[in-house]
Amino acid sequence: MGTDRLQLCDLPKLKEKKQPIVMVTAYDYPTGRLADEAGVDCVLVGDSLSNVVLGYPDTVPVTMDEMLHHVKAVTRAVRRAVVIADMPFLSFQVSPERAIDNAGRFLKEGLAQAVKVEGGGTLVPTVAAMVRAGIPTVGHLGLTPQTAALLGGYHVQGKTGRAAHAILEDAWRLQEAGISLLVLECVPDRLAGRIASELSVPVIGIGAGTGCDGQVLVFHDLLGITFGFAPRFLKTFAEAGRVMREGLAAYAREVRERTFPAPEHAFPISDEEWARFEREPGRDRP
Ligand code: KIV
Repeated sequence: MGTDRLQLCDLPKLKEKKQPIVMVTAYDYPTGRLADEAGVDCVLVGDSLSNVVLGYPDTVPVTMDEMLHHVKAVTRAVRRAVVIADMPFLSFQVSPERAIDNAGRFLKEGLAQAVKVEGGGTLVPTVAAMVRAGIPTVGHLGLTPQTAALLGGYHVQGKTGRAAHAILEDAWRLQEAGISLLVLECVPDRLAGRIASELSVPVIGIGAGTGCDGQVLVFHDLLGITFGFAPRFLKTFAEAGRVMREGLAAYAREVRERTFPAPEHAFPISDEEWARFEREPGRDRP
């Protein structure tokens, strides 16, 4: 392990220094390496693996085994950033014991440094049990996609005074339960800023405005590798999807036109060896 490897405990120091924390999702070796080489602080193997990479309709279907497979690929790639593994739906809600067993797989087999769980309320004792068991745990409040159906869809959360208080209360309870980091998704910017200023743990926002201690976006979304997904909070920082489509179309065109491969892409055999080949009696073929 290199000496410049970031640890989860380095992140509160960035908060103290008011240095924004950069988090991005990654799902495999190339995306993990690209993110790490770009110098991000945290790589989240999000359960957005489910819809973004595996093509499921949302984040609910992805399994522990599928997540673990991808967590392993990302931790093989990342040298510096903190790698956080997202716990999939029903891997932690059923009981604290199940949560600890499953989180343990991400740490012991997947070599992640922390796990993330969605939700507050009744989940807080489970988070406390996970932390007591020695599992560095990241919370996730606001829009929690695994339970979007219960929230009435993918909507901004905490828009009424009462709902905003409930999220602030959950944030405090999660901090008291021992979380190392909190992700806030799709909450009003003033609420996110208030939570970030009250909590000592770093608060990472997505659709939560500038008052957070850091930001997270989905790898494919920020690089324009999307299929019509365009929420208000998303900024496309590069049109990698367009470049990929153009590259694939050019490849297909050149194969069909027989302009690829060109002579410089082929492997020659010397005239002498070819003459020898031609002279050799081959076996009888029909
Ligand atoms: O799974 C995911 O990608 C996430 C981020 C959006 C925070 O949970």
